[in-house]
Parts: sequence; C-alpha cells; structure tokens
Amino acid sequence: MINKVIFSNELAKNCSIVLGVYSDGTLSKSAQKINEYLGGAIERNLRKLNFTKKKLFDICSFLSTGKDYNHVIIVDLGDPQKEFSKFELEKLGAAIYSGAKELDSDIAIAIDAADLHFTCDCASSFVGFGALLKSWFFDKYKSRKDEKIKLKNLVMLTSDTKTSERCFEELRKISDGIFLTRQVVSEPSNVIYPESLARIALEELSPLGVEVEILNGDQMKHLGMNALLAVGQGSEHKPRLAILRWNGADAEKPLVAFVGKGVTFDSGGISLKPEENMHEMRYDMAGSGTVLGLLKAVALNKLPVNVVGVMPMVENMPSGSAQRPGDIVKSMSGQTIEVLSTDAEGRMVLADALWYTQERFDPIVMIDLATLTGAVVVALGHEFAGMFSNCDELAEQIFKSSIATGEKVWRMPMSEHFDDGINSDLADVQNIAKSHIRGGSITAAQFLRRFVNNKKWAHLDIAGVETSSNNLFICSAGATGFGVHLLYDFLQKNYTS
Ligand code: BES
Ligand code: MN
Ligand code: ZN
Repeated sequence: MINKVIFSNELAKNCSIVLGVYSDGTLSKSAQKINEYLGGAIERNLRKLNFTKKKLFDICSFLSTGKDYNHVIIVDLGDPQKEFSKFELEKLGAAIYSGAKELDSDIAIAIDAADLHFTCDCASSFVGFGALLKSWFFDKYKSRKDEKIKLKNLVMLTSDTKTSERCFEELRKISDGIFLTRQVVSEPSNVIYPESLARIALEELSPLGVEVEILNGDQMKHLGMNALLAVGQGSEHKPRLAILRWNGADAEKPLVAFVGKGVTFDSGGISLKPEENMHEMRYDMAGSGTVLGLLKAVALNKLPVNVVGVMPMVENMPSGSAQRPGDIVKSMSGQTIEVLSTDAEGRMVLADALWYTQERFDPIVMIDLATLTGAVVVALGHEFAGMFSNCDELAEQIFKSSIATGEKVWRMPMSEHFDDGINSDLADVQNIAKSHIRGGSITAAQFLRRFVNNKKWAHLDIAGVETSSNNLFICSAGATGFGVHLLYDFLQKNYTS
C-alpha cells in the first residue's frame, strides 16, 4: 500500500518517473522537459515501442536510458484538449498505480495541473488520492504476502505545493474512512459480529471526538424494537445498536442522520439461502460499515456539521430460537409486521432503526444505506446504487455528489402501487410482496417508507456496489467502501456554510 505522498515543484531523481502523452502522440509540457533533459530518449523509446492507437489511461513502461530514473512509465492522457474532472484525476492515479506498482518502490509522477488542463493546482492531490485508494488491499489472512508489489512512495509534481498538500490532507483523511469501511466489510463473520463491530466503532471513533453510545438487546427490547430483535433472535451473537454523534457545528444547526443496515451475516434464517454464494452475506453489514467510515472521515476532517450515525447490528441465523415464517411482530413504530420470509430481514432491522432515529433525533434529513435486495443488482448491476427518496431536492443533492465523486447512484421510482403488495391480511404490513408483484427493490423501499414518518429521507440500496469482483478503477477486487466519499461530499456541499 502507498505509504507516503509528497508534493514537490521540482522533479524527483533516483526513482522511476511517470510521464503523460496525449493520444495524438504529443508529449505533455512536463514530459517535454524530461525528454529534453534525457536528450530525446522519451520520444525515441515511444517510437520504438510503437505506443500508438492507445486510449485514455493506457500505460507502457521502459527502462530509462539516463542515470536519473530507473523506469519511465508513460500514461495516455487522451485528447490534448481534454479537461479532467476530479474523479477522472482519481482514475488517472489509480491507472498509474496499477501500471507502476511492480516496477519501483519510489515513483515520481511528473504530470501537473497544466498537463491536465485542470483549473486548480490541487490536480495532483486527486491523482495521488486515486493511487492511494487503488493501493489498498486486504491480505490479513494470507500467510504469504504478495511480494511483487513494490510501490510505497509517490512524489507528485505540482506548481503549488502548499495548496496541493492542504487539499491532499483532506482527501487522505477521507481515504482513512474509506479504508475502515473496506476493512470491516472484508472481515469474515466469525470476526465481525454485532458486539465486535460495536467495539470497533467505539475504539475507532471515540478518540476522534465522536460520542459513541452502544445499546444492548435489553435496552432495545425496552424501546420496543421487536422487529430488529426478531431478526437476531436465532443467533448466539447478541444484537447491538451503535449511535455515533459528531457535533461539529452549533447545537441549533441541523442534524443529518445516517442509518446503515448491519446484518453481520445473513444466512436467510429459517428461510435459508441456497449454499451457492452464501458466504457473500458476510458483506451484509456494509451499510453499517459505511456509516462507520463516513463518521471517521467527517471527524478526522473536523467537518463543521452535526451528524448522527446509527448502526443496527444483528446476525440472521436459523436455530431453535429463530423467528419463523408467519411470525407477527410489533415494531417500535407500533405497526405490526407479518414475517413471510425471514430472509427479508434487512427491512425489519431498518424499520426499527429508522423509526428510532427520527423519533429520538428529529434530523433534517435521514439517509439509509443497505445491502437490501438482490433485485437491485438485477436492475442496476455493479456500477450504480439504487436511490429511493420521498424528497426530490434531497435526491438531487445526492445525485450531484454522486457525479462529483464517481460513486454513482441512479434514482428509482417509488409508488403506492407497491403498497397493495405488502398490505398483510393478518398484520399491518408483510415483509415480502404478494407473488404477482415484481420490482423487489421498490417493494423494499416502499416498506421502509412506512417507518420514516414523513421525514425527508433517501434510501440507498448498495447490494450491487459494496463489493466488486473485478478491479474497478479506484478499487481492487473486494470491498469498495462505496458511500463514504459520496456522503462526505453531500455533507460538505449542503451542510457546511
Ligand atoms: N442481504 C440480502 C440482499 C442481497 C442479495 C445483498 C445479494 C447482496 C447480494 C437481503 O437480506 C435478502 O436476502 N433479500 C432478499 C429479499 C427477498 C426475500 C424478498 C432477496 O433479495 O432475495
Ligand atoms: Mn436476507
Ligand atoms: Zn440481508
């Protein structure tokens, strides 16, 4: 993993160097300088390697002929006129990391804001951020570590080191939040269960000035959270509810609430899931993991906002004490729920957590994140999270942050049509729809809506994006940390003044 990122307005020596070339074959300004310094060696090598017909972010490398550099790494910067967005700069950094990680431990990236037609001198900060995000991996349980990866330190070329350093400092703290999310999501369910995840929240966040409160099963019982508790009642691991408060602004300023599904393992319960891919349900706490990482990023950067994060945590297991299909429970809101599938557990957990959050904190908006439905993966695949909201303005704000950060969301509809599907014959609501109703993700969202009490609310179904099986641009295969950067940006844009 990358360990140090240094900003300099001079070119580093005695390392490998990354240079930018546009798709038409012309060298970027910084590359021209190095080319002159090396007596035209860059151009000669490019001709020899026939590095043509390439596309944005393609990479090639060769051994340097001069003594100052070990390897020269060339990256395609696309159209010479191209203006990069922040997210594209991150992708560039990630591409460079992938192309260079096995070549040298120290690499200088000689591509600055001018080469990228970026308006601000902090362009290299975003490139560094992308490289850093890409460099994270989870090899805790590998006895033999990957020795091919050498890259540790980056030197970034910039004309304004102060601005770049300040900008990168914030991004690095965001990455610390993202890495915490990736780590807890990656851990298996024999390591991460409600009690252990609550302890991590306490240990990680209290030192940063976040107030962490942890409720146990008895306290939740007392509050009437029977829907949440029913999901966990089959497990040896007892449930926990963690409440994380960051008071970064005056008390009269609005409070923004985040609630994350924290099912530390979802076997399906008595409605047991099929064997194939059941292990993936270790990731079913990714909503809670994202709330945790978000609060870390917010607290590290001392963001001037008031935030509450709620992590309802249970394990969904089949056993003699597990809830049964057909059970009816009374949720904290007073609404009764008929449990027709014990595998539609996330919405039961959120029903109580959302109700609790709006009752206790009266937030100005409430956003939940949940690996809620397989159906959202069918609808949107692995690039977009499904966004559901009862408030157009809120949806628009989240959408804007999704464009800015590259953590993409796509708004899905909600409609009363789906209420018919979940009106129960025996109780107020049933947890899965009658069989003729399709659109499982909308049904789930419509279910949640009954527990938000007309608060401005958005629900992000992150089942498809919380992990990735292939190497996404800014993430290696595995947990992505999706949502931390998105919601950090959302808070910063809309609630810091
Ligand atoms: N945690 C799952 C959803 C899920 C599926 C997340 C695949 C990630 C990948 C959720 O609790 C669940 O089991 N949902 C059911 C709902 C159904 C019973 C109505 C589903 O999607 O099949
Ligand atoms: Mn389930
Ligand atoms: Zn689940």
